[in-house]
Amino acid sequence: MTISTAIIPAAGWGTRMLPASFSVPKELLPVFDRPSIDWVVAEALAAGITRIVLVTGRGKSGLMDHFDRHPHLEALLRRSGKDQPADLIVERARSATFIELRQGDARGLGHAVLCGEPATRGDRVAVLLPDDLYLGEPPALGDLIALSEQAPNKGVIGLLEVEPQDSRKYGMVGGTWQGDHMVIDRLVEKPEPHDAPSNYAITGRYILPTQVFDLLQQQGSGALGEIQLTDALQGLALDKGMLGLVPKARRFDAGDPEGLLIAGLRCALDHGSAELRARAQSELGR
Ligand code: G1P
Repeated sequence: MTISTAIIPAAGWGTRMLPASFSVPKELLPVFDRPSIDWVVAEALAAGITRIVLVTGRGKSGLMDHFDRHPHLEALLRRSGKDQPADLIVERARSATFIELRQGDARGLGHAVLCGEPATRGDRVAVLLPDDLYLGEPPALGDLIALSEQAPNKGVIGLLEVEPQDSRKYGMVGGTWQGDHMVIDRLVEKPEPHDAPSNYAITGRYILPTQVFDLLQQQGSGALGEIQLTDALQGLALDKGMLGLVPKARRFDAGDPEGLLIAGLRCALDHGSAELRARAQSELGR
């Protein structure tokens, strides 16, 4: 069965983004010419996803609005001969089925993923964390899906090699490399460096068999007193198995002002006009 649904947990407050995220959801802050969430959804669509489940919270309905039709604005644009931006609104809204579900309590990433279950279709689901922005080809999620097609019963996650002292910021994994992927046997959420099973961290891309929802239902609180997705994945590793790979696309930390700025620069250089590239390069040279 193909993987059609992606859950995007987006209920968090974005405390690393303050003051920019006081009144604007961090996922709507721009990376070059569009909100960061737009790039994440584009990656999912490029990998063949057709159903996007946004798990949001109070004050975050702007995310859903971004992917909705906008009849008044569309009419205004068309009246002024600006068909291209009007067409963009229509294309974006039609590019997938968008569903919003709410995470009432902030009980952790595992809980957020569980909140997306009612809108999930199929035997496997993709999860994309919008703080992890992957730019460029091939789409990072596509790398995971290709591996998942070879082992559809197992979970597949994106990995990133990090400095040992950064283990406290991530879920860390350990296992055995087989060619380009790791067969994972241990997953630990935000360990101290001496407890990390390797230098490979989980980045926010997952393909998970829907069995993960049963595991999450039974999952007690873990690190930071929250229901951790990583802890449920340890159960999956022991049962059906978990694989990990380092996606080929470039990863940026969009949950941090510096990471967001660098991602924006990358996009401007890749997608901006020749004039913009020249201006950016001269500005950086000063
Ligand atoms: C989450 C996950 C963690 C993963 C990280 C990647 O942590 O719990 O396992 O390594 O995303 O960005 P968070 O950044 O939400 O604390």
